[in-house]
Amino acid sequence: MKLPVSNGKNINLRTPVPSDAEDILKYAGDAAVARFLPLMPHPYTLADAHAWIKFTRHGRQKDTAYDFGIEHRQHKRIIGGIGLKNINREDRNAEVGYCVAKEFWRQGIVSEALELILRFSFRTLRLHRVYAVVHEKNVASFKLLDKRGFVREGTWRQGSRFTGRYCDVYAYGMLRSEYKAR
Ligand SMILES: CC(C)(COP(=O)(O)OP(=O)(O)OC[C@H]1O[C@@H](n2cnc3c(N)ncnc32)[C@H](O)[C@@H]1OP(=O)(O)O)[C@@H](O)C(=O)NCCC(=O)NCCS
Repeated sequence: MKLPVSNGKNINLRTPVPSDAEDILKYAGDAAVARFLPLMPHPYTLADAHAWIKFTRHGRQKDTAYDFGIEHRQHKRIIGGIGLKNINREDRNAEVGYCVAKEFWRQGIVSEALELILRFSFRTLRLHRVYAVVHEKNVASFKLLDKRGFVREGTWRQGSRFTGRYCDVYAYGMLRSEYKAR
């Protein structure tokens, strides 16, 4: 399958490589970024960054997950990540997840990354539905999804476990038809 670079106006989505590990550590090691990411190890080490880079390669090779580094075109370094996991070929859906370094918050970076991954999801992978699962207190994330045209479909009561505690999460989804109609 043709991958792994996708060029936007301010960012590129690309496959992370070992030389990106220090840059990944910078944002993934920030507690503010990790706060609502239950799968992100905390504290985060350089070894975690290398493990993630390896994981992204395996996911792509096995067609089970597609994770990309968000590269800032001007700064020429990885400043965040976005990816698809839980890819369900039978029902043609997948879950999207994302984060960006705090210094770049509110600059439209993840909006642009989301558009690129939606294009990849619906056009390249031919998915029918893309969804996201968001902690009920993660206002930034659900406002972002609202703005990009995702629909809040409901609440999974105690649907996720953050630092040992169950909490409610919102399910957001976008259908292929909604993507095309925007
Ligand atoms: C959530 C997150 C990914 C948003 O990324 P971002 O690049 O800052 O988002 P954008 O700049 O593209 O914002 C797009 C819209 O989302 C909403 N939004 C983003 N951050 C917001 C915030 N802190 N408060 C309220 N609304 C916010 C706004 O509507 C914004 O549009 P506007 O700036 O024109 O008003 C970022 O805050 C982050 O990395 N958080 C930590 C990781 C995380 O929680 N990931 C999501 C897990 S589900």
